[in-house]
Amino acid sequence: VPASLSQLVSDHLRVVPDFPEPGVLFRDITPLLADGVAFAELVEGLADHYRGRVDAVAGLESRGFILAAPLAVRLGTGMVTVRKGGKLPGPVIGVDYELEYGTARMELRPDSVVNGSRVLVIDDVLATGGTAAASIALIEQAGARVEAVCMLLELQDLGGRSVLEGRHIDSVLTV
Ligand code: PRP
Ligand code: MG
Repeated sequence: VPASLSQLVSDHLRVVPDFPEPGVLFRDITPLLADGVAFAELVEGLADHYRGRVDAVAGLESRGFILAAPLAVRLGTGMVTVRKGGKLPGPVIGVDYELEYGTARMELRPDSVVNGSRVLVIDDVLATGGTAAASIALIEQAGARVEAVCMLLELQDLGGRSVLEGRHIDSVLTV
């Protein structure tokens, strides 16, 4: 991922202390999304990086959807929705995991991915890695290949990279 995109993300990030709980430093990407030029530049830059390398883009609910949808359109691929528990109609497969605060579950309709296809997983933030690890497991369980993992922001101290066990992760910005 080009360094110009890191600058773009850092220039449009809002850092909010004590949200959603005391002691949590929340990284808000809404200023980036609200800037039409910056958002387009981000999507275009990511599309240039992944063009021809993937067959589908998987967005992780909710904030990953915001990135996955425009990227899939630019790449000319379909988009896969990996959703929080109870949102998708069956049949679904699911994985429970620990979140930075609380527990959670991600689900996937296995027939929403093509067997053997190359999938790009994208989300806004890599924190503990639980959401991404669960989502990757689901996509692979459904018979597809996770070709790349793209995170807009990696919170290095929370150790998500080690939870994803040496898998190649493109973090646009690491803090
Ligand atoms: C946040 C963020 C990532 C996840 C990262 O999502 O958008 O998806 O946490 O945390 P982890 O690496 O520790 O799993 P959240 O569940 O807060 O919900 P949202 O995307 O619906 O806002
Ligand atoms: Mg999320």
